[in-house]
Amino acid sequence: MPNSVLLQPSHHTFLVNGADSLLEAGLRAGLAMNYGCSSGNCGLCKARIVSGQVEKIRHQDYVVSEAEKNQGYVLLCSHTAASDLVIEVQEANHANEIQLQEIDARVKEIKLLTDKVMLLHLQTPRTNRLRFMAGQSVALSIGDDASDYAIASCPCDDRNLQFNIRNIPGNAFAAHVFGGLRNNDTVNVYGPVGEFVLKSESTRPLLLLACNSGFAPIKSLIEHAMSLERAKSLHLYWLATVQEGHYMANWCRSWSDALDNYHYHELLADSLQASNLDQMMAQVITEQPNLSQFDVYVAGPSRFITNARTALLQNGVPSAQLASAVI
Ligand code: FES
Repeated sequence: MPNSVLLQPSHHTFLVNGADSLLEAGLRAGLAMNYGCSSGNCGLCKARIVSGQVEKIRHQDYVVSEAEKNQGYVLLCSHTAASDLVIEVQEANHANEIQLQEIDARVKEIKLLTDKVMLLHLQTPRTNRLRFMAGQSVALSIGDDASDYAIASCPCDDRNLQFNIRNIPGNAFAAHVFGGLRNNDTVNVYGPVGEFVLKSESTRPLLLLACNSGFAPIKSLIEHAMSLERAKSLHLYWLATVQEGHYMANWCRSWSDALDNYHYHELLADSLQASNLDQMMAQVITEQPNLSQFDVYVAGPSRFITNARTALLQNGVPSAQLASAVI
């Protein structure tokens, strides 16, 4: 039987199964609990057990003082729940609460999604994971060749980082990815940066508009929203204006098949000219007449962002509910 955990002061809840640590289970539930090494060294996951019993499941080098132990402090990365728990813990509420990190990650998988887009799956060391918020970006580098990419996976799996790398002529990092990068090669990850993150406390439905590679941070937001299970519904519109632009259409459609509250709309245009973007926004406005009810996230080229923001604000989306990122 899983045990339930209630966090204070946020009132967030999650379940802990078997040998999962409290930190692992909380992250998997999409919560931004404070942590660093995930392996009992840094002490950043120290939290106070208000009620219930915990069980130590991993060795820890970090020393919790006797005074702290008497007050109920434990490391969440080295303990699991032995009963239902109430825990007092710090959680990040804003992207600027996440520190910059530098990690040498290994290539776990490299796979062509289309002729022009590669899925790059990096895995961090077990003891040095990337703490980030969905929608954020990092700098990836191989030797002196670096480029910024949005993370296309969920912070609920902080060891496994996915990126969608487009083969752009003149981009030296992309040339490595398409030219000779292999499993187990090292890629340096530096970040995260960016404030294009999920309003995780909101229960409003989500409207997500992506254009071309703007899909990457939108995918991260969708996966995080699904792990939180708070949004009433998700509507994804993905406009492709380049060849093989819908490079993960199968992923999008599979969620549509699996979930009643997720809706995928695939749109195609031959360029980013204004008439094409106006046509897309006209379709969104017709199909979603009550735009003010949504939290809206828009990611893609700057022309797409400008056009979408103007149309959304003119049609009732409050500016506080509209976030965008140029990708
Ligand atoms: S995250 Fe570093 S000790 Fe738990």
